[in-house]
Order: sequence, then C-alpha cells, then structure tokens
Amino acid sequence: MKILVTGGAGYFGSVLVPELLRAGHSVTVLDSLLYGGTGLLQNFGNRNFRFIRGDVRDEPVLRQAADEADVIIHLAAIVGYQACRKDERLAEEVNLGGTRNVAAAASSGQTVIFASTGSNYGAVDGVCTEETPLQPLSVYGRTKTEAEHLLLQSCPVVAYRFATAFGISPRLRLDLMINDFVYQALKTKNLIVYEKNFRRTFIHVCDMARAIRFALDHLPEMRGQVYNVGGDSMNLTKEDVARKLREKVEFYLHFAEVGKDEDQRNYEVSYKKIRDLGFDVTISLDEGLDELIRGMQVVQVTNPYSNVYF
Ligand SMILES: NC(=O)c1ccc[n+]([C@@H]2O[C@H](COP(=O)([O-])OP(=O)(O)OC[C@H]3O[C@@H](n4cnc5c(N)ncnc54)[C@H](O)[C@@H]3O)[C@@H](O)[C@H]2O)c1
Repeated sequence: MKILVTGGAGYFGSVLVPELLRAGHSVTVLDSLLYGGTGLLQNFGNRNFRFIRGDVRDEPVLRQAADEADVIIHLAAIVGYQACRKDERLAEEVNLGGTRNVAAAASSGQTVIFASTGSNYGAVDGVCTEETPLQPLSVYGRTKTEAEHLLLQSCPVVAYRFATAFGISPRLRLDLMINDFVYQALKTKNLIVYEKNFRRTFIHVCDMARAIRFALDHLPEMRGQVYNVGGDSMNLTKEDVARKLREKVEFYLHFAEVGKDEDQRNYEVSYKKIRDLGFDVTISLDEGLDELIRGMQVVQVTNPYSNVYF
C-alpha cells in the first residue's frame, strides 16, 4: 500500500515507519520536525521512503502529500497535556485545524487511521468502553476528542484510542509516565509519586505499531469504528508501576500524601472490542521496564547551570 504518515518523525512514528517499510509498504512522512528528524534517519536508505518537511496546517501541502496514498495515518499533533498547555492556540490549530485539513484532503477511496487517545475519557469510575462518554480534562484531551469526532463525521476512519505509550524510540519522550519514572529512578535515584492510587493504562510503543499493521490488514471490517488500543493487564495504578520498578532498581521511592499530580486522569479501560477481532498486546510492563533500564544508559539530559550531570 501507499501510506502517508503525518507526524512520522515523532516518538511513535519513529518506531512505526520502519515497521511499515519492512512490511513492504511505500511510506511518505509529512512532518514539520518540531523535535528534529533523527528518528527518520534509519529510513533514507529505503527507496520506498519519502520525506516531506511540511505542516499539516498547510492544506495545499497536505493535499499534495495525500494525493496518491491509499491510507493516511494521522499522527501529527501537539502531544500531551503539558505541551498543549504551554501553547493552547498552537494545540488548537494543529490538533483540530490540522485534522480538519486531513479530513478535507482525504478522498472517498482513502482511509484515515487516527491516533486518538484514552486521555479523551478523563476521570471515570468503572471501566471505560468505546461507548463511555468522553470527558477530557485537558486541552490535549479536548482537541483530540474534537478531532476524532470530526474525522468520524467526515471520512472513512479507524480511530484508535491508544493507552499511554512506554518504551524506547529513536525519538525518546521522557514526559511519558513510565519512561519518566525509569529516568528519575536511574538518573536522580529519587522518585516522588503523587496520588499513587490513580489508575492509568499503558501500551508499549512497538505494540502500537503492531496495532496499526493490524488495522491495515482488517480495514474493511474496522472502517468507521473506534477502538481502545492497549492491554487489559496493563491497567495499573501509579503505585503498581513504581513498585514494579523498585523491584529492579535501587532508588528512594516516596508516595506523597500532600500535593497533587497536575495530570488528573484516573481511569481504567476495556480492550475487549479489538481483542475480539484478534489483536492483543505482546510486550509486558516487566519487559518494557527492562528495555528502558538498559536503554537509559545512553540518555543524557544536561543542565547547563549545573556542575553535576546525571
Ligand atoms: N505517545 C503516546 O502515549 C500516545 C498515546 C495516545 C495517542 N498518541 C497520539 O499519537 C500521535 C503521535 O504521538 P507521539 O507520542 O509520537 O508524539 P510526538 O510529539 O513525539 O510526535 C508528534 C510529531 O508530530 C509532528 N508535528 C507537530 N506539529 C506538526 C505540524 N503542525 N505539522 C506536521 N507535523 C507536526 C512533530 O514534529 C512530531 O514529529 C499523536 O497524535 C498522539 O496524540 C500518543
């Protein structure tokens, strides 16, 4: 297939794109390179790979990039509650405006696979299914919710509400909870966890890529539908994750009774709908932690005002 991946240079795209190329697809990435393009370097030796440096807010560029695609995988976004809060207008323009352009560029013969998010649920008692009302708590969640709605109304789409990713990627993100916990445990030997009983749900970034390939293989039955994508065994509290990590690494772990997490998401998700179609995750928290612990050896974040580097 010919596939356009918007935002393909990001944390997820850097894992997904080589996987699509390995599967024999032709892949075009459209990305504005907000965080650089290092994650894409591995692909340039492949003749089936094409890169366009561009912005999803630029409709003619997007339309041209999408022209010959069979499938558009729409990842480009301002991602996470912190990044969106920093520049709400940009988040609105990219997450919603960019998605509006994707919907306008997609012709009736093309399918859009949209990377939506479990953040759309917010704080929910009980277990979220795809029918649970969406009550996003952040600009990120709200713009992703509206973007998902817009796509479902206007073009053939598979909307994947992904759990929170973890694991190593060539464009690593340390603002993701598990990745951040491992970084702090290893580099500062110190982790303070607020609101330890908050429930979160996780998926390894390689399983996210597998889920996309699964959709490509099942487009006729999946088109027009929303799916939660993750694993039931990875609905965990923050305390569960921290204690599991503590079994592997020596560090000072403190569960704070005072203070609160700015990220107030607290929810559990059912993944039955996609599991019934035949997809399940393969990489456990245990394996993902081991990978992160090994991989963090090469991660160095320096503070120019410090004499000490972790
Ligand atoms: N990582 C997760 O935990 C997670 C979970 C659920 C959903 N998602 C979704 O998956 C997608 C990818 O997330 P990620 O973790 O790779 O984030 P990321 O921030 O690493 O990647 C986003 C990419 O989009 C690009 N981009 C941003 N604005 C752009 C614009 N205007 N035009 C073109 N490109 C632009 C950036 O340069 C970057 O390469 C997002 O849509 C996100 O909402 C991610």
